[in-house]
Amino acid sequence: MDRASEYAAVRAQLASLLEDRPGFLAGMATACALLKEAFDHVLWVGFYLPAGDGSLAVGPYQGPVASLRLPPGKGVCGAAAASRTTVLVPDVHAFPGHIACDPRSKSEIVVPVLAGDTLRAVLDVDSHEPRAFDDRDREGLEEIARLLAPLP
Ligand code: SME
Repeated sequence: MDRASEYAAVRAQLASLLEDRPGFLAGMATACALLKEAFDHVLWVGFYLPAGDGSLAVGPYQGPVASLRLPPGKGVCGAAAASRTTVLVPDVHAFPGHIACDPRSKSEIVVPVLAGDTLRAVLDVDSHEPRAFDDRDREGLEEIARLLAPLP
């Protein structure tokens, strides 16, 4: 299956699993499992959630162990949280302030999960492959973020 079709399949599966309106936590955990299973280019997938002090606290994830807290505005996650837009990084070593959770990570994409004006989380995906992500990932992950954003 090509990547766009994989995302369509993941999205359909997630939408079906979310029909009973589980909580946001269960939704995030389920999205991680679906994404990690579906894609070979994914080394790590998970969520960071805004903490009261402006930092980001790790939420559900799959992959190697990751930083529990990211300082305010720092890293790719901090940039996505601050700008509230998707940040796609083809080469993490060229991104100023990138926070390396795993030395194998070569490229990364971070998508904000927005409910109206409220940032609920950022969805972070790392790859062991350089330049692993493109617009198919951006669109696929943004759709997943839209499915999760309204969960209670
Ligand atoms: N690389 C991220 C930190 C989180 S880990 O990739 C899981 C960043 O620069 O924000």
